[in-house]
Amino acid sequence: MQDKRRISYMFENMRMYEARNVIFSFGRNLTWRRYLIKEVEGPLLDVATGEGNVLRLYHHGSKMGVDIALGMLKRAKGNFPLIVGDAENLPIRNESFKTVSIAFGLRNVLDKLAALREFNRVLVPGGKLLILEMKIGDHPLSWIQLPYVALVMPLLSPAFGGNPFDYIYLFKSILNFPGRSRMESLLRESGFLLRKTYYFYLGSTYLFVAEKVTTGPIPNPTGV
Ligand SMILES: C[S@@+](CC[C@H](N)C(=O)[O-])C[C@H]1O[C@@H](n2cnc3c(N)ncnc32)[C@H](O)[C@@H]1O
Repeated sequence: MQDKRRISYMFENMRMYEARNVIFSFGRNLTWRRYLIKEVEGPLLDVATGEGNVLRLYHHGSKMGVDIALGMLKRAKGNFPLIVGDAENLPIRNESFKTVSIAFGLRNVLDKLAALREFNRVLVPGGKLLILEMKIGDHPLSWIQLPYVALVMPLLSPAFGGNPFDYIYLFKSILNFPGRSRMESLLRESGFLLRKTYYFYLGSTYLFVAEKVTTGPIPNPTGV
């Protein structure tokens, strides 16, 4: 619980969040979110929505955002409903959305399986789950970015209104995020099948497209 409070507190107080994302990713974060949007079928629930950067790009149906940090939601600009809530225990009725998205958010969620089960619960049968996330170490080329993420970003962050410790947290969370095969098994355990994976930017960022096929775990045909 202490860790969750710390994570939420860090985001509550984050200033110039999106400006730094654009600077440090050379604007690529905007392109990655657009790929996610192309996969959306409404109604859309965007979890860990932060300042609503995903919701602002979606114009084809009803949409809603949820985030644990009220401070992030307060900085969101756009005409869409936003609620405070934890991905591990969503304050949302069963089977109410056709797509659930989470962009650069699942990395921060402590109990990822609990969150994935919640995404399954709020999706209609056959609904889509879109996970956009960063990971170093799964794709061989992604290691090229290690010095950039581990050193350059924390050192440069104060120049753009950031806190170096937030970037050390970012680095650790990227490193610890499950790789593709672990994600695939977490998805199966929570009733999803991975349908498509996009790799961006030397494999440093993924977009997982999964489908809700059942409400419980999916047996692994290989038995492994
Ligand atoms: C890196 S930001 C991403 C924001 C947004 N999705 C984007 O693309 O700009 C991560 C967000 O996850 C939220 N978050 C962290 N843990 C969470 C949880 N357990 N439940 C819901 N939101 C959470 C943070 O408050 C923060 O707004």
